[in-house]
Amino acid sequence: MKKIILTGDRPTGKLHIGHYVGSLKSRLMLQEQGDYDDFFIMIADAQALTDNADNPQKIRSNILNVALDYLAVGIDPNKVHIFIQSEISELTELSFYYANLVTVSRLQRNPTVKTEIKTRDFKESIPVGFFTYPISQASDITAFKANIVPVGDDQLPMIEQTREIVKTFNRIYGDVLVLPKEVLPENEACLRLPGIDGNAKMSKSLNNCIYLNDSYEQLKSKVMSMYTDPLHLKVEDKGHIEGNTVFTYLDAFSTPDDFKKYYPEFANLDELKKAYQQGGIGDVKIKKFLLQILDNLLKPIRERRSYYEKHIDEVYNILKEGTMYAHSIAKITLKEVKDAMKLNYFEDEKLINEYIDEH
Ligand code: TRP
Repeated sequence: MKKIILTGDRPTGKLHIGHYVGSLKSRLMLQEQGDYDDFFIMIADAQALTDNADNPQKIRSNILNVALDYLAVGIDPNKVHIFIQSEISELTELSFYYANLVTVSRLQRNPTVKTEIKTRDFKESIPVGFFTYPISQASDITAFKANIVPVGDDQLPMIEQTREIVKTFNRIYGDVLVLPKEVLPENEACLRLPGIDGNAKMSKSLNNCIYLNDSYEQLKSKVMSMYTDPLHLKVEDKGHIEGNTVFTYLDAFSTPDDFKKYYPEFANLDELKKAYQQGGIGDVKIKKFLLQILDNLLKPIRERRSYYEKHIDEVYNILKEGTMYAHSIAKITLKEVKDAMKLNYFEDEKLINEYIDEH
């Protein structure tokens, strides 16, 4: 079977290190392994509009920002097609047909949609497009026959919904669509990176993000202000790891190699954790270690970004070509879907003969 990878992001802001460990890192790994037939990354502008209908400029101005973030982290346009969702009108057509295969109560049970409705405070005014975006996400995935979807765990309900649509579609209309499977980040800390203030979610509105394009100075001031352990007042005090954001970040980002290079007193994170819990390790010390690790990660990202910022026309063309290619694939799938649903009347005149046979 072919191996097709697809994933995407809503262009509602620039990407942060939560996106990096949550999904960009697995994309880079898949890209480096190179063992796939096609790899798509979609800028989900149409999905972003489902809760930003009154702010189209916000979405538009983030298209190139997000594309820059992809290229900056090392997504290689020769290996991956980056495209824009709204340019592929086939996706909306697929959604219209898939909507017949999903019940309202099934959508109401979607845990991600449920939480998002609460956080957006829609109350009784949930936009229909927002409520049904799991269906549109099924179109995104199936239009390209993707079977591998690298995402964060908040997206699992979307993959599950897609799998149900695929099964129902194939049962009724025949084997056309492909069942997708998620690829999740490897460790718990990566699944949901907290904000620098210790809040469970890193989010623009909470102003607690470290962005991929933060300068060294911005990074430094954020790391130095991170939430640690309020009971750890003096260096000698016993420290707590649980809920200590610096340690959660070290869980997500540090490797034994980092210890060798920047903190040779300890062989690995477990040893440092033990020592911190016993007392005698200051917060400034662990923050400086984390700063070193994060700066190492962000430095090459800043450099690639600065190249592409100077060659923004290149970025524009990458998007244009990626979108053209994606469009050509989605067209083929839509044709297969409509054929399976018997929605093809004018390719030949069979409809006339069927009428005659029936009468
Ligand atoms: N819902 C995803 C997000 O919030 C974006 C997205 C849209 C997506 N369509 C997709 C992700 C298809 C994976 C596959 O970021």
